[in-house]
Amino acid sequence: MNSSSMSENLIIDQSASKAEKYATLLPQIEAVVGAESDLIANMANVASMIHETFHFWWTGFYRVIGEQLVLGPFQGPMACTRIRRGRGVCGTAWEQGETVVVPDVEQFPGHIACSSASRSEIVVPIKVNGEVVAVLDIDSERYSTFDDTDRLWLEKVAAVLANVWR
Ligand code: SME
Repeated sequence: MNSSSMSENLIIDQSASKAEKYATLLPQIEAVVGAESDLIANMANVASMIHETFHFWWTGFYRVIGEQLVLGPFQGPMACTRIRRGRGVCGTAWEQGETVVVPDVEQFPGHIACSSASRSEIVVPIKVNGEVVAVLDIDSERYSTFDDTDRLWLEKVAAVLANVWR
């Protein structure tokens, strides 16, 4: 690995559809993650790349550490640092081992409001050998931002990270 690697330039056509943006984004994520072995560095760049592509309110990771999710690299306002299993949208996605899409966070029992501006949310677990090791959490300040297109592509992003997880 080149220790003096220059930063990459994200190439996204902002006028493209959501699916087209994800289709352009994913190979760039694969290239960045494939060129670096450090997980924190990779989560940091993946959070940035998703955030820069879609300008969501908050994009980031929580890692499973013991009985809690602990805040990892993110883009956006400061956030809750620890979430218990089964709590909030993140803890629910961890407990269920499945992606959770929430169109209106106020309707989600136990939603943890790290930011009062958040209106909708998607949380995608990152699974290694069937075990959740982290979650990718994205918040929007608009209702119903996330749908099956986001689920499909963000699960691919989670799989890219799962493949290099250690
Ligand atoms: N709303 C999340 C907590 C994390 S923040 O949104 C960044 C939840 O309910 O799990």
